[in-house]
Amino acid sequence: MTPSPLDNLDAQKGDLLAAIAALSTLDELRDAEPALVGRRSILAALQKSLGTLEPEQRRDAGALLQEARREVEGALETRRAQLAGAARRAALESDRLDLGDVVVGSIHPPVTFGHPGIIAATQRELEDVFVGMGFTVAEGPEVESDWYNFEALNIPPAHPARGLWDSFYIDLGEPETVVLRTHTSPTQIHLMEEAVREGSLPIHSVMPGRCYRRDAPDASHLATFHQIEGLVVDRGITFADLAGVIETFTRAYFGADISSRLRPGFFPFTEPSAEFEITCTICRGEGCRTCSQTGWLELGGSGMVDPAVFEAVGIDPEQWSGFAFGFGIDRCAQMRHQIGDMRALIENDARFLRQLS
Ligand code: DAH
Repeated sequence: MTPSPLDNLDAQKGDLLAAIAALSTLDELRDAEPALVGRRSILAALQKSLGTLEPEQRRDAGALLQEARREVEGALETRRAQLAGAARRAALESDRLDLGDVVVGSIHPPVTFGHPGIIAATQRELEDVFVGMGFTVAEGPEVESDWYNFEALNIPPAHPARGLWDSFYIDLGEPETVVLRTHTSPTQIHLMEEAVREGSLPIHSVMPGRCYRRDAPDASHLATFHQIEGLVVDRGITFADLAGVIETFTRAYFGADISSRLRPGFFPFTEPSAEFEITCTICRGEGCRTCSQTGWLELGGSGMVDPAVFEAVGIDPEQWSGFAFGFGIDRCAQMRHQIGDMRALIENDARFLRQLS
C-alpha cells in the first residue's frame, strides 16, 4: 500500500484547533481563515494529494479528511460566535456601571476585591453567545400578575398546567394577587406587548433573570434560580430556525463536541413543543449516572409560539410566527463546571466560590 498522505492528520488537526483557540479577535480570525480552512490550507493540500492514492484507499482517506474538516470548521464557527459576542459585549460594556469590582482608591497599592459570582458570570457568557448570534438582551419584572405569569401564556385559572410550577402567590387583597415569577416566559409577553405598542416587530431577544418556585432545594433544584428565555417573532419563522438556533448556541457555549436534540414535549404556550437536550457534559454521550445512561441531559423547553399567545398580546398569527425557548442558567453553570450539588451555589462557602472565580 502507498503510504497515506494522511499519516500526520491527527497532529495537523491538533495544530489547526490550537491555532483557532488562540485567535483573539474577529479580525485575526478573518485573516487566518483562508490558511485554516480555505484554498491555501493544509486541509486543501491534503485533499489534492488524495488523487495519488488507489481508489480503495482514497475512499477511506476521503472520509477521514472530511471528518477532520468538519471538526475544524465547527471549532472555527464556535470561535467566531464567541469573538463576535465578546466584541459586541465590549461595545456595550462602556455603558455598564459594574459594582462587582470595587477598587478602594485610598489603599496603596489599590486593592481589588469581589468578582462576579458564578451565576452572574454564566449569565454574561450566555448573553455573549446570543448577542453574537444577533439577539438583543431584555429584562422583565420578578413580581408578576397572574396575567403575565400564566394567563397570557395560555394557562387559564385552574388549568392543570399550573401544577407544573409550584408558585409563591402573594395575596394583596382582591382582585390583586401577585406571583413571584415561576419562569422567565412572562417577559416574552412584556416584550410582545411593547413591540405591538411601538410598532417595532420583529423581535429577536433573550431575557435572563431570577425566578422562584416553592421547591424544596436538592442537588439539582433551588427555590430561587435563574433562567434565560429566548423569543423570535418574525415573518416565516419555522421549527428549523428554532432547531438551528438551539444547535448553534449549544456548540458555541458547550463546545464543538456537544450537540443538541429536540424531543416532543408539552408547554401550554408553544405548539408544537419540544424538550431541549444536550450531549451529557460529564460522559460526552457515552452514558453515565448523571444522564441515567442515556448520553443526554435535559436543559430546557422550547417550541413554536402558540397562536393563542399571539392573540393574547394582539399579534396576528396569520402574519407572524415565532419560536421560544427557556432554560436554567444555574443548570448551565452546574453542567459546565461539573458542580455536584447546586446548593453549594448559595451556601457562601468562600473556599468553594474562590474555585469558580
Ligand atoms: N417556561 C418553561 C419552564 O420554566 C420553559 C420553557 C418551555 C420556555 C418552552 C419556553 C418554551 O419559552 O417555549 O418550565
